[in-house]
Amino acid sequence: MDATAIDLFCGAGGLAYGLKSAGLTVAAGVDLDPACKFPLETNTGAVFQELDVTDVAAEHLNTWFGDAPRRVLAGCAPCQPFSTYSQSRKSKDDRWMLLRQFKRLALEVLPDVVTMENVAGLAKQDVWTEFTDALEAAGYHVKAWEVDCTDYGVPQRRKRLVMLASLLGPIELDKPQRVDVSVKQAIGHLESIPAGASAIDDPLHSASVLSPKNLERIAASTAGGTWRDWPVELRAPCHRRPTGKTYPSVYGRMEWSKPAPTITTQCYGFGNGRFGHPEQDRAISLREAALLQSFPKEYAFLKPGELVNFTRLGTLIGNAVPPKLGEAIGASIRRHLEAHAGALPVY
Ligand SMILES: C[S@@+](CC[C@H](N)C(=O)[O-])C[C@H]1O[C@@H](n2cnc3c(N)ncnc32)[C@H](O)[C@@H]1O
Repeated sequence: MDATAIDLFCGAGGLAYGLKSAGLTVAAGVDLDPACKFPLETNTGAVFQELDVTDVAAEHLNTWFGDAPRRVLAGCAPCQPFSTYSQSRKSKDDRWMLLRQFKRLALEVLPDVVTMENVAGLAKQDVWTEFTDALEAAGYHVKAWEVDCTDYGVPQRRKRLVMLASLLGPIELDKPQRVDVSVKQAIGHLESIPAGASAIDDPLHSASVLSPKNLERIAASTAGGTWRDWPVELRAPCHRRPTGKTYPSVYGRMEWSKPAPTITTQCYGFGNGRFGHPEQDRAISLREAALLQSFPKEYAFLKPGELVNFTRLGTLIGNAVPPKLGEAIGASIRRHLEAHAGALPVY
């Protein structure tokens, strides 16, 4: 089985790395953020195409696929209409315009398999029905699942929507393995570092600076607890007001024995969610965030000598499809293609 994938909206390559781990060749990744080039190319071997997907044509995809016997179009269209096209035309009202771009390319190229990962809530939107109906009308067998990433070996609670569509026949996502991986198993072996410091041998193992007040706050925090555990004088003014008391899910420490909360693009900040380290007085480091997203420990995000930029790296890491989920998607596609070896696409 020789399957070649193209990953639209490739980011740092979480999905591409997962597909590659399952044995697919990822020929190209498209993203308009140039920061994706180094991690994508270094870790997955795919060629980075710095383009707005709105400007990508069927001819581009056909060229990148080359003469691959089996073609897979993968993508993770974000709902924010972040597009040079939309910016220039001020048409920011269509939140899901990039999903429509993904649909356009799928229908123009008709790859054997199309896969998409996205926020679970997308399945409730009209644009989702429009997307899946269009694929079915073109001959695809379409199926989607709401998955909990913990079921796929990701040490993190993260609910996502996964779609698989094939022109060769009905396609299934691998069954969940239901082997929980804890925060301790994922990051418990890393070197201890204080807030604002980095490990010498891994610059990505860097923790953001904490203000003196936030250092006092994290010292008063317990694993799995909230700001409610703090003495009143340490609480933020909004948490002293009655309305603020209903928001306990900021300023928390993770628990060693459980999966992490959803890793977001802001996960390096103690005040941005339950992103405190279970024991050390700091937020999780960027490397810890990557491990909790199930990136392997050697995944290269930084060029040699490159300085750590928390905002940029937090975006790449928090936005990624967890590679372990990507691997399950890739393994499902691989098994499907093997089962349909020699079959012709039915349009
Ligand atoms: C959810 S992230 C994708 C994560 C990626 N699949 C991974 O697993 O690492 C969405 C990506 O879409 C990119 N993006 C947003 N608008 C785009 C556009 N118009 N054209 C190309 N890429 C775009 C963003 O830069 C971001 O990297």
